[in-house]
Amino acid sequence: MKIGCPKEIKPQEFRVGMTPNAAQEAVNHGHEVLIETGAGDGSGFADDAYIAAGARILGSAEEVFATADMIVKVKEPQAGERKMLREGQLLFTYLHLAPDEAQTRDLLASGCTAIAYETVTDDNGGLPLLAPMSEVAGRLAPQVGAWTLQKANGGRGVLMGGVPGVPPANVVVIGGGVVGTHAARIAAGMGAEVTVLDRSLPRLRYLDDVFGGTFKTGYSSSGLVEELLPRADMVIGAVLIPGAAAPKLVTRAQLSSMKPGATLVDVAIDQGGCFETSHATTHQDPIYEVDGVMHYCVANMPGAVARTSTIALGNATMPFMLALADKGWKQACADDPHLLEGLNVHAGQLTYYAVGKALGIDVVSPQKVIKG
Ligand SMILES: NC(=O)c1ccc[n+]([C@@H]2O[C@H](COP(=O)([O-])OP(=O)(O)OC[C@H]3O[C@@H](n4cnc5c(N)ncnc54)[C@H](O)[C@@H]3O)[C@@H](O)[C@H]2O)c1
Repeated sequence: MKIGCPKEIKPQEFRVGMTPNAAQEAVNHGHEVLIETGAGDGSGFADDAYIAAGARILGSAEEVFATADMIVKVKEPQAGERKMLREGQLLFTYLHLAPDEAQTRDLLASGCTAIAYETVTDDNGGLPLLAPMSEVAGRLAPQVGAWTLQKANGGRGVLMGGVPGVPPANVVVIGGGVVGTHAARIAAGMGAEVTVLDRSLPRLRYLDDVFGGTFKTGYSSSGLVEELLPRADMVIGAVLIPGAAAPKLVTRAQLSSMKPGATLVDVAIDQGGCFETSHATTHQDPIYEVDGVMHYCVANMPGAVARTSTIALGNATMPFMLALADKGWKQACADDPHLLEGLNVHAGQLTYYAVGKALGIDVVSPQKVIKG
């Protein structure tokens, strides 16, 4: 198969769909890999690294789209890229179609087959191609929160780990899933005193079993949040209710109970945010202040560490990419029901029910499509 990887063109996107290692694996499996020149630059992978891996460098996205049987990317194809997709071509990338009717209609019109990273599942009911980015955002949250806490940035001027004779920062993490667990581990590793709140008792039991000595756990209720806010130097929002907007767990009125210069890091901002006063910010201008409390609400946090994020995403996508290339998408999806969950569009038909429901478009069952 000819596998093409264009340079990402969405603003502020520095990741790339294939690492040189992924390219080399595909070449070892007998495939031809075509990389747009400069595609890996933002993640620190020069063209030479891809050439050494056995890939071919092409001069433009047009050439990559025109030549490849399968396009591997990071972000959803932008309008210009969608025009280059063709019937029978396979697209493997993040799509997030439900809120994006224009993209959905363009993909349907192109006749391509599109498999979305974010709907591929695993045996544990998880989303294996979303989890790496939650891991990155979670581990980054205390790091950016610690920077925000610095005096020059408007923060309280508190060091996460304290020093001998001075207590450490107090950090509350609301939501103990992938983001929250990684955030809590890093915050505790920096020496902070950490409490993680969740609404799932099985999750709290797991966290207590595995991390009991590292951080404390609490059952998330508005009363407990109210009790913890006055003591917190940093609150990290990491909740998710699948398919719904994030619940608002800290109100504007409650900010006045917090210490001046305390910091809120709202990782759940991509789902609307879990603090009433959150609004999405960018890496260029990441923080702002409301009622004396600092807010960090960057919606694409993994972009700040593009190299780590690219490698983490590549590790997760590689086995699926190889299966698609080795077997063809139909056989690969027939063999792996979790990959089949990723099928969103095929030959002008929508194949993912939640997207169809959100956009009012008829859906054909993916099982029917692979049998056809
Ligand atoms: N900003 C970014 O760049 C970025 C990057 C990755 C993920 N995210 C977002 O981070 C959020 C968390 O993602 P995740 O992968 O950790 O999800 P997850 O499903 O692994 O974890 C979410 C946790 O929230 C808990 N929860 C739900 N309601 C709660 C409540 N009221 N109080 C406390 N806990 C509650 C759930 O029980 C679950 O354990 C999502 O909104 C995700 O989209 C943002």
